[in-house]
Amino acid sequence: MSSANPLVPQKATVLDITAETPDIKTLRVSGKDGLPFDFKPGQCAMISVPPVGEAIFSITSSPTCRDCLEFSIKEVGSVSSALHALNPGQQIGIRGPYGNGFPVEQMRGKDLLFIGGGIGLAPLRSLIGYCFANRVEYGHIDIVYGARSPADLIRKSEIREDWPAQPDTSVYLTVDAEFPDWSGHVGFVPSYVSELAFTPEGKVAITCGPPIMIKFVLKALDELRFSPDQVITTLEMRMKCGVGKCGRCNIGPVYVCKDGPVFTLAELNELPAEY
Ligand SMILES: Cc1cc2nc3c(=O)[nH]c(=O)nc-3n(C[C@H](O)[C@H](O)[C@H](O)COP(=O)(O)OP(=O)(O)OC[C@H]3O[C@@H](n4cnc5c(N)ncnc54)[C@H](O)[C@@H]3O)c2cc1C
Ligand code: FES
Repeated sequence: MSSANPLVPQKATVLDITAETPDIKTLRVSGKDGLPFDFKPGQCAMISVPPVGEAIFSITSSPTCRDCLEFSIKEVGSVSSALHALNPGQQIGIRGPYGNGFPVEQMRGKDLLFIGGGIGLAPLRSLIGYCFANRVEYGHIDIVYGARSPADLIRKSEIREDWPAQPDTSVYLTVDAEFPDWSGHVGFVPSYVSELAFTPEGKVAITCGPPIMIKFVLKALDELRFSPDQVITTLEMRMKCGVGKCGRCNIGPVYVCKDGPVFTLAELNELPAEY
């Protein structure tokens, strides 16, 4: 295992690339000796594609998976397009891990309610994999996941087959509108959360997705009487350095890259509403 300087990119090799949706691909990458670094669920890495540039992405694999790192990347601009254009065997730069990660110790013994939308499943999947690998330490697991259409759901075989087959686990999928190839739930993620009427006792809710989804999920959880310290979310600010130096990502005194991106709602309620 490398204990490399997190500020210096290391070379990593793309092992394989899977097209998840029309605009999201998952890359499996490996350093020279396996994992380029240790990490916690919810942490991120800066990935560079010379000479295009670098961008930050959540590590979507679980730290319990020791042979590679996985990233699910939505094509939105220059770096993500360059990553989509790679082929297995090509090299990228990678530095990290960055951010605080999810408080896995504080979640021990609790029931977990995961609420994800679209590419927002990426950081949640790392924690979900970690909890499955340490199953006895966590209570019942509920996963609510949605996307615009069936084609936009990522990790299709995991969400439809592997995760529902896990012990004491319930998976609820939804898409925004009716589609001919979809017989499951139709509706936005926040209203599905309300409809499912989860009770807050003994639970922690962890949510990640587009800002508009998070806004209404937080409202739904409040109406279901989850307290702000039972709700955990991740923020997606623009970032450059990833280490609290450039001032690109701060909200008041807090640097999202260093102090986050994972925050409880109780912590966010203490910050200026600049995010
Ligand atoms: C903590 C964190 C974790 C992330 N995890 C993932 C992930 O797992 N998968 C993933 O696909 N993306 C993730 N992102 C978003 C990702 O970093 C950006 O999409 C990426 O920087 C885009 O780089 P680019 O060069 O392709 O796009 P650019 O060419 O830089 O930009 C393309 C367009 O996207 C906009 N944009 C770029 N970055 C952001 C941003 N952070 N917020 C809002 N708009 C932005 C630009 O304004 C522009 O309109 C994460 C971001 C953060 C901060
Ligand atoms: S990204 Fe530079 S301070 Fe956070």
